[in-house]
This record gives sequence, C-alpha cells and structure tokens, in this order.
Amino acid sequence: MPDSRRALRQHLRRQRRALSASEQKRHANRLCRNLKHQLWFRKAQNIALYLPNDGEISPEPLIHLCWQLGKSVYLPVLHPIHHNRLWFLPYRPGSPMRLNRYGISEPKLQRTPRTPAWALDLVFLPLVAFDIQGGRLGMGGGYYDRTFGFKLQYKGIIRGPKLIGLAHNLQKVDCLTTESWDVPLTGIATEEGVYRLSC
Ligand SMILES: Nc1ncnc2c1ncn2[C@@H]1O[C@H](COP(=O)(O)OP(=O)(O)OP(=O)(O)O)[C@@H](O)[C@H]1O
Ligand SMILES: [Mg+2]
Repeated sequence: MPDSRRALRQHLRRQRRALSASEQKRHANRLCRNLKHQLWFRKAQNIALYLPNDGEISPEPLIHLCWQLGKSVYLPVLHPIHHNRLWFLPYRPGSPMRLNRYGISEPKLQRTPRTPAWALDLVFLPLVAFDIQGGRLGMGGGYYDRTFGFKLQYKGIIRGPKLIGLAHNLQKVDCLTTESWDVPLTGIATEEGVYRLSC
C-alpha cells in the first residue's frame, strides 16, 4: 500500500473523529435533508445503510426516514465464511444485535433470509476519502470492493445497486489514485449536498 494512501487515511480519520457531538448531529440531519427529496432515493425499496463508527457521518436520521417511508432497511454483516465480504441482513426497530470483531453493532444472524448484494436497490456506504469523480478510499479492508466487485466484473451486464458514499464534506479530496479493484461510486452525499455521477 503506498504511504500516501495510509497517510491520507490517518489524517482524515483523525479529522472526522475530532468533530464535536453537535457538529456530528448537525451533519447527520443535513445529510438526511439533502437526500430525502432525491427521486432515486424515493424510488428505492431495498436500501442498505450502516451504523456509524470512528467519526463517520451518521445515517441514523436517514434510517428512521426509511422506516417511516416503509422501505426495507439492511445493514452489512461480516460474512461468516467468505473472507472479507459482506452480507446484508434486515434491520428493523428492536432487531436483535451483536458486536462484530471490530466492535461494530450488527444484526444477529438468525433464520432471517439474507439479501444478496445484487438484489439491493441502493447502498449507502461509509468512506474515509472521496473525490467527485467517484473515487473512494475506505478503511482498507476491501470489504465493499470485494462485495460489489461484480459491478466491475459484469459491467454492462449486471447493473447492481446504486452505491452512494456518505461523508462529511471535509473528507473530499481533489483526486484519489484508484486501484484496479476499487469499485467506483454512483454518487456521494455530504452535509453540503449531493454529488451525483452517473445514471
Ligand atoms: N475484488 C477483490 N478481490 C480480491 N481482493 C480484493 C478485492 N478488492 C480489494 N481487494 C484487496 O483488499 C485490500 C484492501 O483494498 P482497499 O485498500 O481498496 O480497501 P478499501 O476500499 O479502503 O476498504 P473497504 O472497501 O473495506 O472500505 C487490497 O489489498 C486488495 O488487494
Ligand atoms: Mg478500495
């Protein structure tokens, strides 16, 4: 991994963790307000989000809005067998939860049917840095890249879900160097607005 990728991760993770609780709350509410009237959000039924960690912008107001609108909400769960991949499990008010190996809360694996990644309409995913060309730098595990790698592999055949990165605006950089496995974002939303790239 080039040092610049590592240094950028460290720098931006520190910056987002330094936001105060009231700034975090303001950003989360503005993010929700910026997304709620987007046509592609209104039309999506099966939506994956995440629970915030490490200073990430919180999609919690958005999760509540999805529930109110009768959408099906999913959260990522570390795949128990396939190394470094994600599964998506339904998340409803009061869903039983457990902590995964990173200390992040995830729905308990029960007999609930899992939703394959390709069957979701929309995925809101966290990131460490983004550029407005759709470049994304994550935490470095390659989880989202592996899980949505089929979008690169079957480009033009399987469209798959729209991937919208959620971030604080301070996570924007001019241009990220991307690797062959990096799956590009369809759009990015921050507390400042929505950057929509394709379709
Ligand atoms: N589709 C893939 N198949 C195999 N290995 C992969 C794939 N995608 C990523 N990787 C591996 O995962 C490692 C981490 O990738 P990368 O640095 O892009 O993570 P990231 O995008 O920051 O993480 P995340 O997606 O979890 O937020 C890389 O070393 C890469 O080789
Ligand atoms: Mg990547």
